[in-house]
Amino acid sequence: MNTTQEIFVETKKIDEIIASNAGKPGELLTVMEEVQEANEFKFLDPASMEYISCKLKVPLSQIYSVATFYSFFNLKPQGKNTIIVCRGTACHTKGSKVLLDDLSVLPGCKDALDSGESSFTTEDKQITVKTVACFGQCALAPVVAVNSVIYSNVTSEQILQILQNLQEGKKDENLKLS
Ligand code: FES
Repeated sequence: MNTTQEIFVETKKIDEIIASNAGKPGELLTVMEEVQEANEFKFLDPASMEYISCKLKVPLSQIYSVATFYSFFNLKPQGKNTIIVCRGTACHTKGSKVLLDDLSVLPGCKDALDSGESSFTTEDKQITVKTVACFGQCALAPVVAVNSVIYSNVTSEQILQILQNLQEGKKDENLKLS
């Protein structure tokens, strides 16, 4: 490995992850998933991917292909909290673009998403905003996921309340919507 980039997950930890998955079906995918999970900022940093490539003897290009193919892999640092707004047809029809626009109260968010970025993270790394093509819950549109909890029929008032709660550090239980 000849990278000079910072590695976000200790190589000892990556070695442990590799050892515990050796020879198992889907080894590469699981290793990548667990390394991302071990990263404080929940993303696959270039140095970690290079280390995995060397250790598993898998071309780095293949690791990047996997990381970009599956939407649950992140190539950029993620915020402590994640808000995912569905942009599928049913949710769009029921106003999900408006919900996304509501989140433009986060400085830089609208510009980033409008310019084609798939996600936006606030500078303080507290909140990441992402979009998804469909949650498969179209009858409940518009649908938003907050820290993996799905909320249905979300209104502007509610998403702004969710955002405020996250910014104030309130727990998920306090975010429950009707
Ligand atoms: S379009 Fe949003 S859940 Fe299907």
